[in-house]
Amino acid sequence: MSKSTSPQGGDTMTHLDFFKKFKRFNPLEPSLAILGFIFVAALFIGCFFYLDYQTVTREASWLGLIGPFSSSEVAAAASRDKERPGFLDEGGEGCDLFDGNWVWDDNYPLYQSTDCFFIDEGFRCLENGRPDNFFTKWRWQPKDCNMPRFDARNMLEKLRNRRLVFVGDSVGRNQWESLLCMLASVVSNKSSIYEVNGEPITKHRGFLVFRFKDYNCTVEYYRAPFLVFQGRPSAGAPKEVKMTLKVDQLDWTSGQWRDADILVFNTGHWWNIEKTIKQGCYFEEGAKVNMEMSVETAFQRSIETLIDWIGCQVNMSKTQVLFRTFAPVHFRNGEWNSGGSCHLEKLPDLGPLPTSLGSHFEIVASVLLKHLNESQAKNLDLLNVTSMSSRRKDGHASLYYLGPKIGPAPLHRQDCSHWCLPGVPDSWNELLYALFLKRQSFHVQNSTERTQPLHS
Ligand SMILES: *[C@@H]1O[C@H](CO)[C@@H](O)[C@H](O)[C@H]1NC(C)=O
Ligand SMILES: *[C@@H]1O[C@H](CO)[C@@H](O)[C@H](O)[C@H]1NC(C)=O
Ligand SMILES: *[C@@H]1O[C@H](CO)[C@@H](O)[C@H](O)[C@H]1NC(C)=O
Ligand SMILES: *[C@@H]1O[C@H](CO)[C@@H](O)[C@H](O)[C@H]1NC(C)=O
Ligand SMILES: *[C@@H]1O[C@H](CO)[C@@H](O)[C@H](O)[C@H]1NC(C)=O
Ligand SMILES: *[C@@H]1O[C@H](CO)[C@@H](O)[C@H](O)[C@H]1NC(C)=O
Repeated sequence: MSKSTSPQGGDTMTHLDFFKKFKRFNPLEPSLAILGFIFVAALFIGCFFYLDYQTVTREASWLGLIGPFSSSEVAAAASRDKERPGFLDEGGEGCDLFDGNWVWDDNYPLYQSTDCFFIDEGFRCLENGRPDNFFTKWRWQPKDCNMPRFDARNMLEKLRNRRLVFVGDSVGRNQWESLLCMLASVVSNKSSIYEVNGEPITKHRGFLVFRFKDYNCTVEYYRAPFLVFQGRPSAGAPKEVKMTLKVDQLDWTSGQWRDADILVFNTGHWWNIEKTIKQGCYFEEGAKVNMEMSVETAFQRSIETLIDWIGCQVNMSKTQVLFRTFAPVHFRNGEWNSGGSCHLEKLPDLGPLPTSLGSHFEIVASVLLKHLNESQAKNLDLLNVTSMSSRRKDGHASLYYLGPKIGPAPLHRQDCSHWCLPGVPDSWNELLYALFLKRQSFHVQNSTERTQPLHS
């Protein structure tokens, strides 16, 4: 097991080695190696069209192609990286962190799942038998700037005496567990990190609060897959209504996290007809069940409710609020319950972006746009991960979610929604770290500005 998770020494790996390795992992797809060869050859020929070597390496590193192949090109890409401004440095302010590509990086992953106690069995893909570890080796590279290198000690120090809270569905939980691992990697006394109520990590708890004792900070997760209140219908509802979502009222736990220092929301995966109306869960507004309301409308109303709630209930001078956009699923030839699969995906999609980001993304974006004249929407940080993650069809748990003792799941029962850890959610957290540091530096700037007269 540890063998397949250890670094591969990719510096010395030739094209041939790479594809040999690749082929071994991929007995069902021998044609992929041929296709890959043609692709690399085409790229090579394509290079002659560029006269400027610098441009070639830039384009190639952009496509994330040169990483696994050649160390001289890696060095060229590294020097190119130095040319980009840092996100937090002069020249990096306007940089769109979410516009970029995945590049191979042998220094990844940031931790090993075997060293982290905070991961659900369902996300421990390598331990559950996934044969390739390529998916752990991709770093997100914005086009116009470099992200700050994730520094767990720095983040813990800045979280001292504070609360960081994730609220949302199980993909939010996926991201929360990733952050716990990233932070815990620098804490040597693992028993100084514990759940405050002594609860184990399991899928079924309403909330979990982990304390990092030496830093007096907590990193918390609240399960609220719809973000709005789900409960019994108001009196007088039709018989088929078993439950309702109150699209004008936030989840009942909201009082517990309203005052957190950092709030990270996500929702989307439960906003579909199977998980609502088909279960007898209808939508309620103004204490009245509305049998006609569509899932899309209900979702839109709920996001508006969230924005209003942030405006009324959250002190945004104290609390940094982030919303992580929808994390795409990658079921091919079916859905989650009809044999859809992703287990043959070993590489990201490095080509052009999809034209549509899907209705869950679009609805959130349009609500935010509509409310941009209000300060809470303006000050909200968007973790705009939909587009970048849409390229990571290789990052899902697929067959490897049942635990090390049970082994791979049947082919027609795949998980192409959740992500392996280490993996894609680590990159979301590196982006979270960048936005967190940016906000911290604002505060320092503002408070020094304010206190300057006292010193002069
Ligand atoms: C999110 O990122 C994608 C990719 O860079 C971009 O096309 C889109 O406009 C961004 N959306 C928002 C709302 O920032
Ligand atoms: C620990 O942090 C909490 C806020 O989360 C604060 O109220 C409390 O005073 C802190 N304790 C110590 C010992 O600093
Ligand atoms: C580790 O943390 C636990 C819990 O806080 C504490 O009881 C123990 O003394 C610590 N061990 C060391 C070696 O610091
Ligand atoms: C909001 O938070 C800031 C910073 O912590 C604090 O100074 C201010 O009093 C708070 N405002 C309200 C209305 O609680
Ligand atoms: C923002 O604009 C919307 C219409 O686009 C309007 O209904 C709302 O009252 C405006 N809010 C503020 C604070 O001006
Ligand atoms: C810092 O101050 C500037 C104006 O001086 C203001 O626009 C900005 O919102 C402040 N930032 C924070 C995080 O308070």
